[in-house]
Amino acid sequence: MRKPDTPSLQEDLSTAASWVEKGLLSISMRHAPISRLPSLALYSLESGGKRIRPFLCRSACSAVGSPPDSALKAACAVEMIHTYSLIHDDLPSMDDDEMRRGKPALHTKYGEKQALLAGDLLLVEAFGELLDTPLGPGRVAMMVARLARAAGPQYLVGGQYMDMYHSEDAGADWIHTMILGKTAAMIRVSLELGACAGGADDDVLEALSAEGDRLGFLFQLTDDILDQCGSAEEMGKEVSKDTGQGKRNPVSMMGLDAAAKKAEEMASDISARLMDIRGDWSKVAALALFLPHRRK
Ligand code: IPE
Ligand code: IPE
Ligand code: MG
Ligand code: MG
Ligand code: MG
Repeated sequence: MRKPDTPSLQEDLSTAASWVEKGLLSISMRHAPISRLPSLALYSLESGGKRIRPFLCRSACSAVGSPPDSALKAACAVEMIHTYSLIHDDLPSMDDDEMRRGKPALHTKYGEKQALLAGDLLLVEAFGELLDTPLGPGRVAMMVARLARAAGPQYLVGGQYMDMYHSEDAGADWIHTMILGKTAAMIRVSLELGACAGGADDDVLEALSAEGDRLGFLFQLTDDILDQCGSAEEMGKEVSKDTGQGKRNPVSMMGLDAAAKKAEEMASDISARLMDIRGDWSKVAALALFLPHRRK
């Protein structure tokens, strides 16, 4: 089995995190606020996080041979939508989690109404940021359309709904659709937007979308594994909650050992397929190989 190249991957992840965090310093919600709502959204947006989606966006833009800054607004946008989804996911009426990114969740610190509205703000503003991408209107429109679809009823919100309400006979296909929605779509679109910003052609985008779905599934699979055997301290959020809440996921379906084996298999498979796509996809492949070993 191929082993992940951890030191250089960690360096690339940290470069991407600093890059997007600098980009987030100039988003328009910071200017002339009429209430304290933007500062509440910033509490969550600036509370760290691994910034995996911005890393994917940046790496995809570089992979197709373009300077990463073309993808900076897209990276800010995906991180804003991801952060909104976490704020809402943690609400008492959803997963009811009090900790996020090693700190009190937004609703724990400031209240539920505040968390709902801060999430709404981030979702809307993400599109405003993406529209500021310094590329031609045709390409930007294509990026906006992809992001809207990934965040919409067929994917993120639809998947989150499925996660909240399932029938007793929800099996492997149901779980697959739910995960492609709630998690994989944002991972996939991060790659797609980075590649679009870098000028990728349709063939590359199509191959990339398929790997993005698989990578996103793998990401959620390892999150579900870590919910059972990770530590709250390393994860920065509560663990051992999915079973108690009756969540249907690959771990509850197949058990921890089989899930871990599946994660290893998927990681090698995805990294091999990525390397077959035109361009230099080695950084994204390194992330895929690392995911089964992550602790946070
Ligand atoms: C958590 O995502 C939600 C899932 C899709 C499992 P991350 O693990 O990327 O969270 P942050 O951004 O690093 O906090
Ligand atoms: C991913 O699922 C949720 C989102 C799409 C926001 P989880 O509910 O498992 O994410 P965590 O474990 O709370 O980060
Ligand atoms: Mg959830
Ligand atoms: Mg949750
Ligand atoms: Mg989880």
